[in-house]
Amino acid sequence: MSVTAARVTVVDHPLAQHKLGLMRDAETPTQFFRQLVNELAVLLTYEVTKDLSVEEVEIATPLERMTVPRISGKKVAVVPILRAGIGMLDGVLSLLTAARVGFIGLYRNEETLQPVEYYVKLPADVAERDVILLDPMLATGNSTTAAVDILKRAGAQSVRMIAIIAAPEGIERLHAAHSDVHVVVASIDRGLDERGYIVPGLGDAGDRLYGTK
Ligand code: URA
Repeated sequence: MSVTAARVTVVDHPLAQHKLGLMRDAETPTQFFRQLVNELAVLLTYEVTKDLSVEEVEIATPLERMTVPRISGKKVAVVPILRAGIGMLDGVLSLLTAARVGFIGLYRNEETLQPVEYYVKLPADVAERDVILLDPMLATGNSTTAAVDILKRAGAQSVRMIAIIAAPEGIERLHAAHSDVHVVVASIDRGLDERGYIVPGLGDAGDRLYGTK
C-alpha cells in the first residue's frame, strides 16, 4: 500500500495488482470481469475501512472471559454511482454485512458535459453514517464530485470513495471541491484521452460488467 497524497491510497498488494491486470486485458470475458470487480472491491474495502474506530468489549470464549475489539461509532452506508458502481456492491457488502445501501444515478449532459442527477435514494439517516461511495472509474471527477455534493446536501459528514482506477485529473477535480474525501484505488493511471476515458485503463467499466456496448 502506498499513500501518494494525504487523501489518496493506492493498494499495491500483489493480489489487487494481479486482479487489476486481468481486468485490464481486453480478452477477459464479462463473467470473469464481473467476478474480478467484486474481488477487487473486497480488497479495497479492507483498506478503506482501516481507520474505523473500535472499542473493547468483554465476551466469553468457550474457555474463559476476555476482551475483544469490536467496531464502534458510526454505522456505514455504501453508495454506488449507477451503473458501474453496482458491480462493486456485492464485494463491499460481503465484508460490511450490516451496511445500508443508497444509490446515485447521474448522466452526462452532452452539451454542457456536466453530470445531471436522475435518481437519488439514500438511507434516511445518511448524516449519521460513514459513507463509502463506489465507482470503478474516477475519470474526470465530475460525477464523483457531483455525487459527493449530493451526499453532503443530504447531511453526510464523512465520505470515502473506492475506485478501481483513477486518473490524476479526476482526483485533482474531486479534491479541489472536497479535500476531505479519502480515495482508495488500485491504480492511478496516466491520464484521460480526448473522450474522457482513462488510459491505459480498462475501457468502459459498465459495458465490460454488463456486456453492453
Ligand atoms: N468510465 C469508464 O467506464 N471508463 C473510463 O475509462 C472512464 C470513465
